[in-house]
Amino acid sequence: MDTNRSITNDKERRYASFLSDIALLIQDEHDEISVLANVSAALKEAFGFFWVGFYLVKEQEGCEPQLYLGPFQGPTACYRIHFGKGVCGSAWQQRQSLVVPDVEKFPGHIACSSLSRSEIVVPVYTKDGRVAGVLDIDSTSLGTFDDTDRQYLEQLCQLLTTNLY
Ligand code: SME
Repeated sequence: MDTNRSITNDKERRYASFLSDIALLIQDEHDEISVLANVSAALKEAFGFFWVGFYLVKEQEGCEPQLYLGPFQGPTACYRIHFGKGVCGSAWQQRQSLVVPDVEKFPGHIACSSLSRSEIVVPVYTKDGRVAGVLDIDSTSLGTFDDTDRQYLEQLCQLLTTNLY
């Protein structure tokens, strides 16, 4: 038996089931903070991630747009991240998901917790294609996230676009 393949299949099944639950959970609510708070909680419950949450693009008077800490589950985290900085700011700048198997090998990684070892960041877009924020998930193990996580988390963020932005 190919063990890696069956682990991937199991992960795919869990994500597929998770996505149908989330679609139901958010379908009747369109308040950004409420929905993102429940999505963070559901991800934490379903997968036991160390840190899961959202950073949201906001422009405060007199400042460049930055990522501001939004709803999350896990240890306390940094409040703001500049465009192009860290994994989150890089995903925003590059407009693409970033899978980081070893955070120490990512130049400029921002260590909100010294326990974080690997990370995935997925942009959330508005319907007209701007980046509204990013979904960030951290793990205390190396190499936790792969292309399966990326694909399903992108589908999750697409649901958020449809529902919120
Ligand atoms: N590691 C992220 C910062 C956010 S925390 O992981 C919650 C980064 O490099 O952008």
